[in-house]
Amino acid sequence: MEKKIEQTQDLVSEQLKALMNLLKGRAPGGLLTAFRTPQIIFGMTALNRIKNYLDGNLEEGDRRVLIITDDFTEKFASPISSILGKINIESRVWSGVKPEVPIDTIDEAVKICNDFKPRVFVAIGGGSVLDTTKALMIKFEKPETNLFTVSALEPLGLRKKIKYFVAIPTTSGTGSEVTLASMLTDISRDPPKKFTVSHPELIPDYAVLITDFVKDMPPFLTMATGLDALAHAAGSYVSNIGTPFADAMNFYAVKETIKYLPRAVKYGAKDIEARAHMQIAASMAGLGFIHSRVGIDHALGHSLGKVLNVHHGLCVGMFLPYTIAFQMKISERWKDLCPLFGVDPKNKSDNELAAEFLKSLKDFIHSIDGPVSIKEIKNPVITEEDYNKNLDLLVNYAETDPVAYMVTRYIDSEVIKRIFEYAWDGKTIDF
Ligand SMILES: [Fe+2]
Repeated sequence: MEKKIEQTQDLVSEQLKALMNLLKGRAPGGLLTAFRTPQIIFGMTALNRIKNYLDGNLEEGDRRVLIITDDFTEKFASPISSILGKINIESRVWSGVKPEVPIDTIDEAVKICNDFKPRVFVAIGGGSVLDTTKALMIKFEKPETNLFTVSALEPLGLRKKIKYFVAIPTTSGTGSEVTLASMLTDISRDPPKKFTVSHPELIPDYAVLITDFVKDMPPFLTMATGLDALAHAAGSYVSNIGTPFADAMNFYAVKETIKYLPRAVKYGAKDIEARAHMQIAASMAGLGFIHSRVGIDHALGHSLGKVLNVHHGLCVGMFLPYTIAFQMKISERWKDLCPLFGVDPKNKSDNELAAEFLKSLKDFIHSIDGPVSIKEIKNPVITEEDYNKNLDLLVNYAETDPVAYMVTRYIDSEVIKRIFEYAWDGKTIDF
């Protein structure tokens, strides 16, 4: 049975890869002809407002909420439980989410759901918590569904058991609180393999941005998650897939990130305005990339993160100057971003402008203590010997990453290897 699923996965992957070249394009010619978003609640009264929504809309027999967290975000569950208790909503906390979302953790949560029969999920956490909750929605409501073969084009029939899915992010970067995608890890494969389940019914009903829950992020996490948001927004803005809706979200997310991320990194909890703007920027970038495509920085970044244990946001942010430069050969959309980075396009050749833009992008990353080459990564330090030893594996993982199937300029293992080689010491992409 497992073998069959594996074969089906591989077949679907190959077909997708072949089809993507035919599907690329910008709306209304492409396939992206809807713009879907949760209700986004933010600002000082956000918590109070979601409380009032639930109080007003849950009938007597439906007042059961499962709060989903991991070890790190469990601390946020008790303030939510006590608020719910005051309006006679019973809550339970499940804190069993694991990093990278191994799919067996979902079975554990389904058992709790079958016993407690929640009518609302409140997911509090980063990408792993929100992605786990999305997969849990499917397996609790439709246990017969095969996660490997979910098609975004066919109805799942959710929201029969769970009336509302409330997503409360505790980092500002993944954008998962507004997206339809859930990134999971199939632990039955050796090595374990990441796969994505995407479906419009997985979009949370409410994304609640509570600044108090992100204000104490340490500088490294603020920088790395902020770079993730920047990579989502800039990487998908320069791609050749998208719509004016996605463009608006991505463009403004880049603008907000440039303005507020350095302040959020530098001043932390003392600069609540910067924190609040970065929350919004991350959600906007999520709405942008999910209605477009992330860049190949995400294929390369997923691979680097997994093989050498580097933070996801740090990886994709570091690859951004390389992958935007790679994309420049087939699109001029990067030029729109120049003014946001303070680069004036007047009286400059394309080469001069590109060089100035890429330098400004690298300067920005450096300004928040981020790396722009592999050898600059401090956490963890990667030796040249270790990097070269793992190069083939890095290429293999990047090439078979789901993102690699959807990029807008053709890539193969040779191209990917060259980008990895250039990224070691910061060489500018010239191919
Ligand atoms: Fe990301």
